[in-house]
Amino acid sequence: MVNETILVTGATGQVGKRLVPRLLSWRENGDQIRVLVRTQQAAEHFANLGALPVVGDLLEAEDRKRALDAVTSVVNNAATFRGPEVSDADMFAVNRDAAVALAEESAQAGVRRFVQVSTNLVYGPGIGRPVREDDELRAVVTPQQRAYPASKREAEERLRELSGESGLDIVTLRLAFVYGDRDPHIENILPRFNAAAANEPMAMVHHADVAQGVHRALRVLPSKQSSYRAYNICGDAVSTVFELHELVGRSMDLAAAEGRTAADPWYGVPDTTRAYRELGFRPIYPSARAAWRDGAL
Ligand SMILES: NC(=O)c1ccc[n+]([C@@H]2O[C@H](COP(=O)([O-])OP(=O)(O)OC[C@H]3O[C@@H](n4cnc5c(N)ncnc54)[C@H](OP(=O)(O)O)[C@@H]3O)[C@@H](O)[C@H]2O)c1
Repeated sequence: MVNETILVTGATGQVGKRLVPRLLSWRENGDQIRVLVRTQQAAEHFANLGALPVVGDLLEAEDRKRALDAVTSVVNNAATFRGPEVSDADMFAVNRDAAVALAEESAQAGVRRFVQVSTNLVYGPGIGRPVREDDELRAVVTPQQRAYPASKREAEERLRELSGESGLDIVTLRLAFVYGDRDPHIENILPRFNAAAANEPMAMVHHADVAQGVHRALRVLPSKQSSYRAYNICGDAVSTVFELHELVGRSMDLAAAEGRTAADPWYGVPDTTRAYRELGFRPIYPSARAAWRDGAL
């Protein structure tokens, strides 16, 4: 069996710092996990865990080249979208342009598989049922979410074209809202729901299941039909804004929320049948409530 060197970008982020230790623990003999990180401190942290760090920036061609040296698979997990200081231009530069450049260079370097970490927000609103991977991607730049969903959608569209042109085997994972493993994401998102309906849907996936999805995407056999595949990665049960408050011990102001209805009760709610059938994906935490009961929030 050929040894793998898997490059993971975005290792220091909320997803990456929980994903990399899992990928390290699932390594087979001789396999290596390389991480592209932006600081020496992060490099030392990941070296201590057993990964091979490369210090560099995804926006720099030379740094991407060093990171890709002798790599067999890539997990492009880096993105920028958090905080008011991140501009729409920053989001397009990192989430779309650097992702596409990394994939082009991966194709040239003979990489076997490129896993693109994307989001369920690429679908946009208005589909009227749980979203499936072949649905049209409608995300546009909005005042609330700014360029994040659109930048990920445009990345996906270019990656699909690139895969057709180059034959690079690309697996895109569209993650729902990620939580668990003491990620403060749920607490941090609550202020955004001040004017939301109590039953606003929240499609969610636990970090353990994100890692499961990535691990399976790295190992699934190439498809004879297409070198580009996308999968929704989510728990089985959709939560609500009301439940999110409860799970972190807050109470939602139901009097204030009375009469509000979810603008789109299907927004971001994914159908995960394809991941179930083709990747063998089975959520360890089917719902956020199940994760709470297991002490895994
Ligand atoms: N969290 C969620 O709920 C969620 C849901 C759906 C999809 N996703 C996707 O999951 C992935 C990870 O998200 P996250 O929540 O972990 O994000 P995050 O916490 O904001 O982390 C982003 C990561 O990307 C790195 N990065 C950003 N710009 C970079 C650059 N120019 N060069 C190198 N590295 C760069 C950051 O490095 P520094 O530490 O150096 O800044 C960090 O490691 C993203 O692709 C995101 O779209 C996340």
